[in-house]
Formats: sequence, structure tokens, C-alpha cells
Amino acid sequence: MCGIVGYIGPKQAVPILVSGLKRLEYRGYDSAGVAVLDGASLETRRGAGKITNLEGALAANLLTGKVGIAHTRWATHGPPTERNAHPHRSTDETIAVVHNGIIENADLLRRQLTALGHTFRSDTDTETIAHLIQELYEESLEEAVIAALRKVEGTFGIAVVSSRDPEKIVAARQGSPLLIGVGDGEYFLASDASAILAHTRNVVYLDDGDLCVLTPDGYRVMDIHSTPIRRSVERIEWDLAAIERGGYDHFMLKEIFEQPQTVENAMRGRLILEDGTSKLGGLNMSHDELLNIDNVIITACGTSWHSALIGEMMIEEIARIPTEVEYASEFRYRNPIVTPRTLCIVISQSGETADTLAAMREAKRRGARTLGLVNVVGSTIAREDDGGIYLHAGPEIGVASTKAFTSQVVALALFALKLGRQRTLSVIVGREIAEAMAELPKQIQSILDSAPLIEKIAETYKDSQNFLYLGRGYNFPAALEGALKLKEISYIHAEGYPAAEMKHGPIALIDESMPVVFVAPHDAVFEKIVSNIQEVRARHGKTIVITSQDEPALEGLIDHEIRVPHTIDMLTPILASIPLQLLAYYTALKRGANVDQPRNLAKSVTVE
Ligand code: AGP
Repeated sequence: MCGIVGYIGPKQAVPILVSGLKRLEYRGYDSAGVAVLDGASLETRRGAGKITNLEGALAANLLTGKVGIAHTRWATHGPPTERNAHPHRSTDETIAVVHNGIIENADLLRRQLTALGHTFRSDTDTETIAHLIQELYEESLEEAVIAALRKVEGTFGIAVVSSRDPEKIVAARQGSPLLIGVGDGEYFLASDASAILAHTRNVVYLDDGDLCVLTPDGYRVMDIHSTPIRRSVERIEWDLAAIERGGYDHFMLKEIFEQPQTVENAMRGRLILEDGTSKLGGLNMSHDELLNIDNVIITACGTSWHSALIGEMMIEEIARIPTEVEYASEFRYRNPIVTPRTLCIVISQSGETADTLAAMREAKRRGARTLGLVNVVGSTIAREDDGGIYLHAGPEIGVASTKAFTSQVVALALFALKLGRQRTLSVIVGREIAEAMAELPKQIQSILDSAPLIEKIAETYKDSQNFLYLGRGYNFPAALEGALKLKEISYIHAEGYPAAEMKHGPIALIDESMPVVFVAPHDAVFEKIVSNIQEVRARHGKTIVITSQDEPALEGLIDHEIRVPHTIDMLTPILASIPLQLLAYYTALKRGANVDQPRNLAKSVTVE
């Protein structure tokens, strides 16, 4: 996902824009740039790579001006070079545009605009918007932007400035997040509140189809027909410190160690021990509407899809409702069976993942109730779903998701408990589940205390070329998640597999160079996985086994053992994921990889 920042007010724009970009760098970072108006003079500076390269360009050639827009890019069209960095300018250089999203008819527009004499200087889809605005410019910048966007197909969050209308920023959103920051006599624009939190906590979230005009005197929100729209000012509660590293070497490590607190936060005020159930305020579904649900679809991407697999087992086991999990990118193009009694649970940390948002809209279109399990308050999915359960995990900055995953699983457990206690789950079993959940924060802390042991294991295997992660039942998704964590930050190929499936092919890979991570806490299928460990051992594979305290059955079978406390089966993946996160973190660190900003990845994939 790209990052957008804008400023208009009494101060110099560049320092505010650059500091805002730095707060957004985690979202997408292969180039960056700014455009600043000083009176009727419009200047831009851009740099490939990190924001520090842009800072160098700015230091070499200062930019003054009190109106500006800025952008960090995660390439979708055209390689990450300065030439393709935003802002992009019109042929006559009077207009500069920054953009997050994909213009799907960019090729056609490029051909039409070239035929009209426009000169393209980049490989990007964004540049077409700048030339289109120039081509359609008559009276005002906002009218020209509206006219241009009428010809654009695709998704955008854009900000535009022009020397022809210098005291103004025009922005519009369709599929990519944008918000206005309301300061004291100054106004901001951002794709994410963290970019402007140092200046104001008062924000106005734009919805799809909104367009806004910022001037030194205020802001206006309208639709594509210039009809004014009222949007309320909301207050951001979390602090900048929450997105600082807080003394840890990396955001990812900070977020792994936050999990006793974040799991506690996910349950706060929601776990009802006495009745063995949960109280969830944001569902927006009555008791009867919940009872009326007779099938569940859970859709998500990446790590969120792994938590969905755990949620499927929870809901079917304790609520006895048929549940299926779908990759959002597949669901949105399939012809799925959806009925008015279908509940579509949509899981997304960022609340902005394009495929997941599209899948939710498709489910809504077909009459399903939608329930968002989202971390980012005010995100698009959180504002478009019919109801939701916020994760309350705080900002997750590390690209590799950790605390959001465990909070997703906790939220799914709370929801399954509520559904189950409405149906066949007894208060006795409900209480057992609730009490086991209440133990999680303490248990997670005890696992974190074993971090140095896990760091040693990482040291042993940091040069391996391949890993295999095996698990059964609730811990098969944990094995998938462990493999994803490792590959996305250490760049080692890692594959997650159901342990029993190893016999049907992957066992051919086993030799002394293959570390095999078994997610094997003591659960209903523990005895079965012990035989899988023996099979690997017999072929000289290296066994790294995550298991519960005191498991004598594993004597002599383990090369490396990581102990986790006992808990009920459905909660075992929450505890097992902690050492998996740490193993990935330390392995990546020892390989010199960029743990928080791994290559080719972005924190939120807002393009298809
Ligand atoms: C997980 O570590 C990855 N960063 C990625 O798979 C992520 O989970 C996926 O892109 C979904 O993101 P979301 O939860 O914000 O929708």
C-alpha cells in the first residue's frame, strides 16, 4: 500500500510532509516524493528507495511553500525508480498528483492523451490522471479533478495540487483510504492517521466516492456531483508512542512481546466467565438474528486466512454451524452459495486489503450478513461491514503480522463461544473455555521468557535452504502460519503441511539438511503426530518440536524442544504461534534481512 500526506496552512510544508512520510514508510516503500506550491510556483522532488534518499534530494535543493502533497510508493505499475516515483505532473507541469490504487483503464487513457499531444514521462498508471486533469481543466481544480475521475476506472486515493489554483489541495477516494486532519488553522491529508498524529487527533474519514477541497480557511467534502457531504470529525485515541519501537530493536519484536497485553485487550470486557460466554458489542445482530445463521463463510488473505482456518474449526466444534474458509481473492470471482442465513466473517488486520474488501462486498451483494474482524479502527472494511469485532491490538507496524494473528484467533474464540452457548454448548464447557482463555496472557508471557532458547535454534538453522512445518487439527493452520512467518521475513523457502499428509509426497524431501518444525502441543491428535516425528527422525530429518510441558512420549525423538503450557485444544495454536514468530524473527535477523520491511512486501495490499 502506498502512503499519502498533504498539508495546507501557515507553516512550511516540507518538514511536515517528510515526517509524515516516515510514519508511513512501513506501508509501502520503494520510492517517495513531494510537490510543494510556493505562490504560483509548483516544485517537486522525488527519490527512489527509502525516504532518506528523498531527504537528501531536498537538502541539496530546498523547497519552500505552505501547500504540499507527498507520497511513498509500493510499485504496482512500473519498476521502483525515481522516474516512476510520485508525484507525477501534467504535460504543462501546472498539476501534480499522488495516487494510491490502480487505474484499470490507464492504457486506453494513455493512448488517448498521447494522441492529444500529452508527453508521458513514466511507466505508471498514475501519470494519466495528471494529464487528464490538465486536459479537462476549465474553472477550478476541483471541477477538473471531478471531470477527470469520471473517465477513470479503478481504485484511487489521490491528492492533487496545481499552480493554476495554488491555495488548494483536492483529494478523492475510491477504494484506497484517505482522511483529513483538522488542525488549528491548518489542514492535513493522509492515507493513515499515524502520519499526522503529531499535529492533530481530529480526523475526518473519507468514504468511497468522496472528494474534498482543503484551503487555508477550511475544508469541504462533496461527492462526484459536487453535492456537499457532511462527515463527522472523529478523535484518534492511541498515541504516537504506540507506534514507536518502544526500546525494541524492531517493531516486529515489540509486537511479539506485546501479545500478553494485546490478547488481554482482545478479551477485555468481552469474556463472561460466570456464564461461560462472551459479550460482543459491535455485532449489530440481535439474539434472534444470530440464531438464524445456519452457515458461515470466513474470507481473508495471508495470515488472516490462517486464523480463519482456526475459526472454522472452533465454530464447527463448539457451535455446530457449517463453516467454510475461502481465500478472498478466490471467493470474489467464484459463484459461491450465499443465502440470507449466511454470515460472512471478514478478517483483516489493516481493514484495507483489496481482495478481502471486494469479497465482503460480493457477499453483501448476495445478501449475506457481514462481520469484520479488523484491527484498524475506521478502516474501509470496518466501516462497510454490517457489524464487527475490533481486535484492539493497537497499530501493527511490522509487515509480518504477529499480535494481530493471535488477537484474531481470540476474537474468533469469543465469537464461537457466543454462538455455541446460544445453541448446544453447556455452561460447564463454556466456562472451561472461558477460564482457559483467561489464562492465555500469563501463559504467553511464560513462552516469551524462553526467547533466548529459540534464538539459539535460529542460530543453528539460519543457513538452511528449506523448512517444513507440520501440524494436525487446530495446529495445522499454526504450521501454515509458522511457515509464512519464516519465508516472508527470512526469505527461506518454508512449507506448512498437515502432518499426516507428509507421507503423500513431502517425506521425499526429508534428509539431514531439512529442519522440520512440528507444532505438537498435547491435544486430541498428539499420539498421531508422535508417529510423524518418528518418520522424520528415521530419515535423519532435524526435528524442532513445539510441545506441551512434560511429554515423555517424545524422549529421544527431538533435536530441539520448545515447551508451551497446556491449554484446551482450540487455544493451542495461540500459544504455539509465539515460538513460531520468534523463530522466524531471530532467523531473519541472523540472516541480515530487513525484519520490519521485508523485500517485495507491504503492510497492506490494497491492490488486486
Ligand atoms: C502476514 O504476515 C502478511 N503480512 C500478509 O499475509 C497479511 O496477513 C495479508 O496481506 C492480509 O492482510 P490483512 O490482514 O491486513 O487483510
